[in-house]
Amino acid sequence: MRETAVRAPLAGNDSLWRARYGRGMIGPHHIEGYAIVSADGMIADAAGNMPDTLHNESDQRFLQTALDRAGVVVHGRRSHEGGPRAARRKRLILTRRIAAIAPDPSPANSLLWNPAGATLAQALAALGAEDGIIAVIGGTEVFSFFLPLYDAFHLTRAAGVRIPGGRPLFAEVGPTTTPEDALIHHGLRPRARRDLDAAAGITLTTWER
Ligand SMILES: NC(=O)c1ccc[n+]([C@@H]2O[C@H](COP(=O)([O-])OP(=O)(O)OC[C@H]3O[C@@H](n4cnc5c(N)ncnc54)[C@H](OP(=O)(O)O)[C@@H]3O)[C@@H](O)[C@H]2O)c1
Repeated sequence: MRETAVRAPLAGNDSLWRARYGRGMIGPHHIEGYAIVSADGMIADAAGNMPDTLHNESDQRFLQTALDRAGVVVHGRRSHEGGPRAARRKRLILTRRIAAIAPDPSPANSLLWNPAGATLAQALAALGAEDGIIAVIGGTEVFSFFLPLYDAFHLTRAAGVRIPGGRPLFAEVGPTTTPEDALIHHGLRPRARRDLDAAAGITLTTWER
């Protein structure tokens, strides 16, 4: 696994990243995103709930296996991957309810993190997760926050599902911008698309930098 450094500017918010995370290495990490989106690029409905139509067994198997291999799972306060092995995983939960880094009162192995008050490197060190894959699992703001830094993004698409007015994968996704547009804009390129569940129209494309 290679060292992950803050990269040269690729998009507008790279300067934000440099300001927050500085110029240093953040350890031997590989940053990977995981999402399942509707045909119109949404991860949840307008109320912030993930509809059953976006749940797929094959996608869940893919996600849960990948998260078992990750060094840390990162998500916002309203997201969680669930499943029987979730409690074993180290995790950072983004929230503005704390100033920087704080213990999470409920699950073991997890810390609350506010990026405005502590760098990612500091949060990882506090969690004792100094190597391995950083698996980013959403939601919208968290997926967007890491856009300049993904080494890979695993984009599952549910071709038969539409969620008008829903929550987009990335903040910039909308009527004229697809998730793929956003990934390209931030320097990622697709590998071959494969079927996860052909009968249900579920495909997976891994995007890499
Ligand atoms: N389809 C998919 O692949 C997928 C993936 C992920 C989630 N989802 C679904 O999407 C819905 C939730 O998404 P969401 O976007 O509303 O929620 P979310 O990202 O899980 O949580 C939002 C909260 O995270 C915190 N947060 C986010 N960005 C932050 C930042 N930069 N700094 C500090 N705190 C930050 C804030 O918490 P505080 O309010 O505590 O400050 C914010 O209110 C759920 O239904 C979930 O199941 C779907």
